[in-house]
Amino acid sequence: MKLLVIGSGGREHALAWRLAKTPGLVKVFVAPGNAGTARENGLQNVPLSSPQELADFAQRENVRLTVVGPEAPLAAGIVNLFRARGLTIFGPTREAAQLESSKDFAKRFMLRHNIPTARFASFSERAAAHAYVDEQGAPIVVKADGLAAGKGVVVASNLAEAHAAIDQMLPPAELEATRDGSVARVVIEEFLDGEEASFIVMVDGRNVLPLASSQDHKRIGDGDTGPNTGGMGAYSPAPVVTPEVHARAMREIILPTVRGMAADGIPYTGFLYAGLMVGRDGSVKTVEFNCRLGDPETQPIMMRLQSDLLNLLEHAVAGRLNLVEASWDRRVALGVVLAAANYPAAPRTGDPISGLPGNSNDSHVFHAGTSEKTDGRIMTAGGRVLCVTTLAENVRQAQKRAYDLITRIHFDGMQYRRDIGHRAASR
Ligand code: AMP
Ligand code: GLY
Repeated sequence: MKLLVIGSGGREHALAWRLAKTPGLVKVFVAPGNAGTARENGLQNVPLSSPQELADFAQRENVRLTVVGPEAPLAAGIVNLFRARGLTIFGPTREAAQLESSKDFAKRFMLRHNIPTARFASFSERAAAHAYVDEQGAPIVVKADGLAAGKGVVVASNLAEAHAAIDQMLPPAELEATRDGSVARVVIEEFLDGEEASFIVMVDGRNVLPLASSQDHKRIGDGDTGPNTGGMGAYSPAPVVTPEVHARAMREIILPTVRGMAADGIPYTGFLYAGLMVGRDGSVKTVEFNCRLGDPETQPIMMRLQSDLLNLLEHAVAGRLNLVEASWDRRVALGVVLAAANYPAAPRTGDPISGLPGNSNDSHVFHAGTSEKTDGRIMTAGGRVLCVTTLAENVRQAQKRAYDLITRIHFDGMQYRRDIGHRAASR
């Protein structure tokens, strides 16, 4: 039996690694994969990334099921393509992926279905956007509409920052006529106060299976300072997701979303990630939707997953998620991202990596931006390079285990946060 995982990050390494544990499995292909997936038992990289080539490959190799890691192929319609060719794939269609690919779509959807989120307005003209910001005051949040890899969001603490963000994201009026039909929009929204958590579920169009809760660290610097990144580390579970918060997130956000998408004629299938803002009063609001698993959240989540992942996925593609449950290691899993020099602005690549430790039952180094040279040396090849992920009785022990392993690893310009898990550790 063969499976295919699409993507090349730490999320895909963790997914493929977990799938390779399936009893009776022959092989997990990873397209295009990285140096970590190249070396893992049971995995094989295939140097493909265009949807058409991937579909041809899945057909030729008789792949039983394909799982998509990143948002870009989903937004481009890879699920539509595979389904049209009779291939089994887990993920949202292009239309359903708009929950992530268009903030404007997501906001209007939430408004229509009464799903709690920040108040907002969207604009394609600078003057109107500036006037709205003046009327609302600061702090306020300005977001570019469309996929922006976490970089299209400015949380402005004062009006000057908000105005500058608008000017940066929207073209001046005299240039608007020259765009190629794709009008730029910004979504301007109310600033939400509270603690964030990642709430990720599997959806089969109707039924929902929640995964373990998690939390990531988006800022580059210790103490959550500096620019936003794709994520500098994550852990699971997130203590802020108490049983009450979990119940509210399901009742107020996830279930109305799944029902609302079905009612709107765009049934949602795939992983669905709600970024939650949990208020001090225990209220939950949706900061954003992602139409995929989180990276790096997936790395600790997969370390804790005890159920057979393929079995869950097969139930999902068959519309039978109501018949399964997931079981989790009760311990804490924590992953620390090691990033390249100059990440996130302009990450440098091509630095040799040394000292990679072996993996064990309670630690695994998941690769992201790595590549292997013909002489076997492993080099940096992207912004986020590795995610050192550990399991332990509590957050502090998981931190100690991860940071002890990191002392052995070296590449020039390596950056990482020293405080992954600090919120959970101080609870
Ligand atoms: P997004 O790309 O929408 O997830 O935004 C990136 C990050 O910006 C989020 O993870 C939050 O930390 C922050 N953010 C986004 N929207 C808001 C909001 N309305 N209030 C406060 N923080 C926000
Ligand atoms: N870690 C945040 C994300 O995957 O979007």
